[in-house]
Amino acid sequence: MAIFLYHSAILAFLVLFQAFNLADSQSFIGVNYGQVADNLPPPSATAKLLQSTSIEKVRLYGSDPTIIKALANTGIGIVIGAANGDIPALASDLNFAKNWINSNVIPFHPASKIILITVGNEVITSNDQSLINQLLPAMQNLQNALNSASLGGKIKVSTVHSMAVLRESEPPSSGRFHPSMMNVLKGLLGFNNASGSPFAINPYPYFAYKSDPNRPENLAFCLFQPNSGRVDSKTKIKYMNMFDAQVDAVRSALDSMGFKEVEIVVAETGWPYKGDSNEVGPSLENAKAYNGNLIAHLRSKVGTPLMPGKSVDTYLFALYDEDLKPGPTSERAFGLFKPDLTMTYDVGLSKQSSQVKLSPKNEVWCVPKPGVSDVQLQANLDYVCGHGIDCGPIQPGGACFEPNTITAHAAYAMNLYYQTSGRNPWNCDFSQTAMLSSNNPSYNNCVYPGGSI
Ligand SMILES: *[C@@H]1O[C@H](CO)[C@@H](O)[C@H](O)[C@H]1NC(C)=O
Repeated sequence: MAIFLYHSAILAFLVLFQAFNLADSQSFIGVNYGQVADNLPPPSATAKLLQSTSIEKVRLYGSDPTIIKALANTGIGIVIGAANGDIPALASDLNFAKNWINSNVIPFHPASKIILITVGNEVITSNDQSLINQLLPAMQNLQNALNSASLGGKIKVSTVHSMAVLRESEPPSSGRFHPSMMNVLKGLLGFNNASGSPFAINPYPYFAYKSDPNRPENLAFCLFQPNSGRVDSKTKIKYMNMFDAQVDAVRSALDSMGFKEVEIVVAETGWPYKGDSNEVGPSLENAKAYNGNLIAHLRSKVGTPLMPGKSVDTYLFALYDEDLKPGPTSERAFGLFKPDLTMTYDVGLSKQSSQVKLSPKNEVWCVPKPGVSDVQLQANLDYVCGHGIDCGPIQPGGACFEPNTITAHAAYAMNLYYQTSGRNPWNCDFSQTAMLSSNNPSYNNCVYPGGSI
């Protein structure tokens, strides 16, 4: 009887845990909805399209009211933007900021789930010193305007940076900001830190590849494909893909300034599916590999080596091609969907295709808790693989060998141990470094066995 009671208490806990967890599942996958185009489908059709996918957040560059309205009651989180041109008035006039909130937020909130306002785009690297100096005051005024509308904390304020704010990014542990931008960044980061808003940045492995196409294995490293990895000589961490390396370089730069608590958001990342004949990198195959593998990587929740066990909020670039953008052909070829709402190529975003991977009800998996050290995870890995569990899938050539990180391998092994040892709560303990999750960590051909308790 006592055992039965214990069991139902755990069940009740898991039901709660699941309800909470499912609401949060995959909410780290967002998409950029740019509008420099003359052929886009109506916002209502776009809202339907988004609801048929596992995309749960959308970033607008402006604050088009038709789009914001079309997304009402969809549960989709919305990032809206104040244009660079609005910065001077926002900075100098609190009333302008209040009016901005009154016209762009108040009429739509909370039916339309506005979660973040980005002030300006890549301002710090724009060379416009006057605009750069006005960025923080503009953000502060918008924050004050939100506070007076009792929306402070509910809707965050930030800005978006290009990777050019980094002077050093390789190896990731040496990631540092440009000394000339340090003062301004210090102010902005102080704002992020105090208001709990994220540091938003645009890492593009595509551009890293483009600038150095002849480096050995660079394409595979940038596309999350099998490669021999790059060891960070300071930390001895072996990086298996460029995305993690870039995000961890940003993490190192933030940490080196003392802002360890400020979260990173990937505001844009993507890969063009076509380009001009003289462009290196764009192709349907590469775009599909990058975006598909990135999505699988995010869903696996292995995180990056410096931020294991959780996926950074990532907004894919982009929802549609923007046919009016200037520049080489690749600039107009980042779209995941065509104007007729069909996929440009399949990256596993449609709900139908991801449902195959989603669990039937009540299935649970054993996963590492966030923040557990590599040393502990390695100990778990050694323990499991030394106790007759088949660790073949995480050995070279196995379906779960990639990503080749201790976190990913330990996650696979710990779950397999739990599933094959009776699925008792104590089989998913590992000295309190593990927890049960209702999110299926499987990705690509790597299947994590699941089971109900
Ligand atoms: C970040 O905010 C926390 C809490 O408000 C504060 O204690 C800390 O000093 C801040 N960090 C920096 C580097 O300003």
